[in-house]
Amino acid sequence: MPATIILGGQWGDEGKGKLTDALAGSAAMVVRANGGSNAGHTVQTNQGTFKLHLVPSGILNDDCVCVIGAGVVIEAATLIGELQELRNRGIDVSRLRISDRAHLVLPYHLALDRLEEHRREGEEIGTTLRGNGPAYADKVSRHGLRVADLVRPDILRRKLAIELDSKNQQITQLYGDTPFAFEELYRDLVAYGEELRPFVTQSEVLVQDTLAEGKNVLIECAQGAMLDIDYGSYPYVTSSSPTAAGACQGAGIAPNQVERVIAVYKAYSTRVGGGPMPAELLDETGQLIRERGHEYGTTTGRPRRTGWFDAVAARHTSRLNGVTDVAITLADVLDVFDEVKWCSAYDINGTPLTHIPALVDDLAEATPVWSSTPGWQTDITGMRSYEELPAQLKAYLFELETILSSHIRYVGVGPDREQLIDRGPRA
Ligand code: GDP
Ligand code: IMO
Ligand code: MG
Repeated sequence: MPATIILGGQWGDEGKGKLTDALAGSAAMVVRANGGSNAGHTVQTNQGTFKLHLVPSGILNDDCVCVIGAGVVIEAATLIGELQELRNRGIDVSRLRISDRAHLVLPYHLALDRLEEHRREGEEIGTTLRGNGPAYADKVSRHGLRVADLVRPDILRRKLAIELDSKNQQITQLYGDTPFAFEELYRDLVAYGEELRPFVTQSEVLVQDTLAEGKNVLIECAQGAMLDIDYGSYPYVTSSSPTAAGACQGAGIAPNQVERVIAVYKAYSTRVGGGPMPAELLDETGQLIRERGHEYGTTTGRPRRTGWFDAVAARHTSRLNGVTDVAITLADVLDVFDEVKWCSAYDINGTPLTHIPALVDDLAEATPVWSSTPGWQTDITGMRSYEELPAQLKAYLFELETILSSHIRYVGVGPDREQLIDRGPRA
């Protein structure tokens, strides 16, 4: 049986975690493909609310093997804390597997993330300060340490000594900050390695074996395609590829093993951190969306920027990712509006634009061209079938399907596991 990819179609926080949890009930395995503890995936079940950062969102389903793939960057202390929290709440974490090829986020990456954001003063990326950028930078410049090193103290000692020496020079000489002490860091990492060793495996082998057995495998991306390092609003992006292509690479599967690419979009837009957001609403409508959607970051608690649905960005990510099915989440947040709008094009100094430009400087000049449809002004949180949904919402969803050139299969009507309508495959 081929694999299914679940990815975010906007700027992250689209509700990927909730959808992954819901679909994991019929999957043998969930593989997290990219990102690190910058991600925050919220899953609400009858056991309460879980905020997952590194652990795949399948972990709340008893029979699901959860894999942290090679494309993820792991801060060991955060992962150990997250596992402990899950154990405390009665979740069996023995089903977790960690790729030995996954890179480590080390304390100096966290420091460099902070120092570099400070240095950019006025033009900060607005990162989550989880060391993501510096860790991926080390990975591609071949200075990274991996999980395979973490569980081999002798090898770790040699490699860490080389890397820490150059990082300490950078930290002290470029940024004038405090260096890290080798022995203390090494001792901590060896202890983390001991703790995580039982979970470590060659995960790409496990994923391929599971697919070969004909089992259902879900690939869970973090972030959103508008934060993609290549196709997002660079440099206001994350440092990995939260795309269908990135999902294959990060999980260790081939493009022709993918059957479905499910893109998750909110019924409106949110973004955390810096960078242009043409459909942003800085008025009371934006504030109402923020309050109704509880739009505060899962990882950092920062208020999320809000706006109407951005069709230019959505079309861009839908096309680039070969989307087969769409989930529209948080539709209930728009229940109270008499009119629902979307940004159908950008206007840049009188020139209409229907594609995302490469330069953020150009994107920053874009003003939205709005389209609108009547709101439904009905509480949809108790509805459980597509047929029940108000006609005005169906009309809005039809507009979104046209924009995305794809079938809207899932509609989110609330944060709970059951508040998800599955309309079924395209008729
Ligand atoms: P992720 O990073 O894509 O997994 O999304 P987050 O968990 O960071 O943010 C999505 C938020 O919306 C979480 O608080 C979810 O509990 C919540 N959520 C997900 N789907 C829905 C929905 O359909 N309606 C409402 N009201 N909340 C939802
Ligand atoms: P999930 O998986 C929303 C944003 C940050 C910042 C930019 C770069 O929960 O959807 P980074 O720490 O990655 O170097 O920050 O990317 N960002 C996210 N925004 N959801 C996320 O993850 C994000 N992960 C990173 O706010 O703008
Ligand atoms: Mg999130």
